[in-house]
Amino acid sequence: MDDTTIRIGVQTDRQSGSGSLDPMDRLIVALDFPSANAAMGLVERLEGSCRWFKVGMELYYAAGNRVIEELRERGYEVFLDLKLHDIPNTVTGAVRSVTGVGASLLTIHAGGGERMMRAAAQAAREPGAPNLLAVTVLTSMDEVELRAIGVNETASSQVLRLARLAQAAGIGGLVCSAEEVAAVRAAMGPEVRLVVPGIRPAGAGGGDDQRRVASAAEAIARGASMLVVGRPITQAADPARAAAEILAEIAGAL
Ligand code: C5P
Repeated sequence: MDDTTIRIGVQTDRQSGSGSLDPMDRLIVALDFPSANAAMGLVERLEGSCRWFKVGMELYYAAGNRVIEELRERGYEVFLDLKLHDIPNTVTGAVRSVTGVGASLLTIHAGGGERMMRAAAQAAREPGAPNLLAVTVLTSMDEVELRAIGVNETASSQVLRLARLAQAAGIGGLVCSAEEVAAVRAAMGPEVRLVVPGIRPAGAGGGDDQRRVASAAEAIARGASMLVVGRPITQAADPARAAAEILAEIAGAL
């Protein structure tokens, strides 16, 4: 994998930013699996159905860089969702360690603070480094949980506070829920990349760990650049069909 390929992938997406009219640029399928074998089984079932895969902690800790390289060899863009949250020096080292591996996007936690984000942004200026996204408030958290960790604001105002901090630190993208994406888009402008997880098919009940959820169409209509979808696709009886339905929903909302 050469660096040019990685950069082209990022730039294509950056140009389309929040404005690509191709639904395939807007969908990221979360490969939350315990092994490379299980993940690649799903990748094969989704061939031709998507362009982006997210490798999170579960898969990365089990399979390491090799799974990213394999996805790149198959022509996919990779979002490495490690949600880094540590002292600035350690996060800098972590960004350097994944530079050149082939991920186009990498997450850090905005809650790590401005100095941590600035340090990460500095490390991500090196050739071959992924573009950074700052995770604001996890989509699994509601206001009761926020209060329990000492955050006495609404989820929306906490997300906006962290979004502004991330912007001040030089981070070009954010992860937030569909509930606050419209406010973040209005506050941050058209260029910032807003990635929204917690996507559930319209009419689906709750029942899992996600709390601040919306349908794909709602999230796109409110200003999301890209959607992260895991279980609604990966656990579907027919994952390719589930992906096609979400792509159709996205297309309808663009
Ligand atoms: O299965 P589901 O669609 O809930 O998967 C959502 C994915 O997005 C998971 O991999 C989760 O780690 C990730 N994510 C999230 N909320 C955030 C950031 C990432 O759900 N704020």
